[in-house]
Amino acid sequence: MTDQAGWDQLIFAPLAATAVGAGYGLIEDVAIGIQDGKIAFVGPRSALPSAADARSVVELKAGLLTPALIDAHTHLVFAGRRADEFERRLAGESYAQIAASGGGIRASVAATRAASAEQLLQLSLPRAWALAADGVGTIEIKSGYGLDPESETKQLRCARQVGERTGMRVRTTFLGAHALPPEYQGRPLDYLAMLTEELLPALADQGLADAIDAYCEHLAFSADQLRPLFRKARSLGIPVKVHADQLSDCGGAALAAEFSGLSADHLEYTGAAGIAAMKAAGCVAMILPAAYVVLGQDQPPPISALREAGVPMAVATDLNPGSSPVQSLRAAMHLACAVFGMTPTEAFLGATRHAASALGLAEKVGQLKPGMSADLSWWALEHPVELSYWLGSPPALATWVRGKQLEIPTRTLQEG
Ligand code: NIG
Ligand code: FE
Repeated sequence: MTDQAGWDQLIFAPLAATAVGAGYGLIEDVAIGIQDGKIAFVGPRSALPSAADARSVVELKAGLLTPALIDAHTHLVFAGRRADEFERRLAGESYAQIAASGGGIRASVAATRAASAEQLLQLSLPRAWALAADGVGTIEIKSGYGLDPESETKQLRCARQVGERTGMRVRTTFLGAHALPPEYQGRPLDYLAMLTEELLPALADQGLADAIDAYCEHLAFSADQLRPLFRKARSLGIPVKVHADQLSDCGGAALAAEFSGLSADHLEYTGAAGIAAMKAAGCVAMILPAAYVVLGQDQPPPISALREAGVPMAVATDLNPGSSPVQSLRAAMHLACAVFGMTPTEAFLGATRHAASALGLAEKVGQLKPGMSADLSWWALEHPVELSYWLGSPPALATWVRGKQLEIPTRTLQEG
């Protein structure tokens, strides 16, 4: 093979879990050829074209290669912490009671509004690096702690900067409809109209919203209230996601399906009608076990019914300062298995291929196969079941995004 036809990089490893097919998609003694940041060849070393040539050859003597993990639901751009609420919940107060007393999302809104753009970035970068160390190459980052045009824009710009500064792939989601800000107290429709008529179109113009999300819940907004916002989003070509049925069945999953949503997330109280609607719409079920555990909930999402219906399930951290102060996707995978009864194979596909679908990136990331971006993680593990088996374990050995290895700082300082 001439230099021109050769690959930029050739990686050999004892084992890869490709996430192609129904199971792990294991390939032993694997060779991966990378060209222009994309995967050009994946297969056993014995199947490598005999003339294969590469400018750089990496021989990994041990361990496992997987697609770089994808954390498809985070709120990692925020200021302030809510450890006090953790203590209050442990002392018996509920998430809803704390929210009603001015804590919860509103506490994070006050802190996030008060932070400068630079402070917000310095607070957010270490969280992204923590996920990168955990083998994550792609993160979704939501707004929703600004709740006014200036602060929502600040959050989404910060999310973009997190991608630029870390080299991770970032998808932004506009979550203006996360809670009612204090200045709109008693006027939810006025607030939603502002989001629909002013803020969403402005963010779309600036290319800051890869998707839109909303909190459909009795303590936030109803499906009826959210429809005009989602109609507008669809008219602007922005795909829909929904925080759905987390604390009650308020039709959130069906709402996501109605707008051909990429995903419906949480789903603890989703019933048969919501599941059927999701299946028909091709909507991914985003399972967030850490929030369930942290909030001490007692009704798990309908995993068996989702499985039987053939709804693809993704798993994410829901990284946020209130309901899910969790900075490890593998921890969420473990909890998805140990607490919700997902299988480690489901958790693996949920953090790779199905997570990609939930971000509209199914053609780009989440599987090791030709044509996909060269987003890979290398682990000191013998088998991909171990990604879910350990609860707390050493970082990934390396993560590549678009064929480039992430340079994770060994020490990061949080300012505040
Ligand atoms: O995904 N459910 C609403 N939103 C977040 C929690 C946000 C917060 O408490 O700050 C969630 O759990
Ligand atoms: Fe969330």
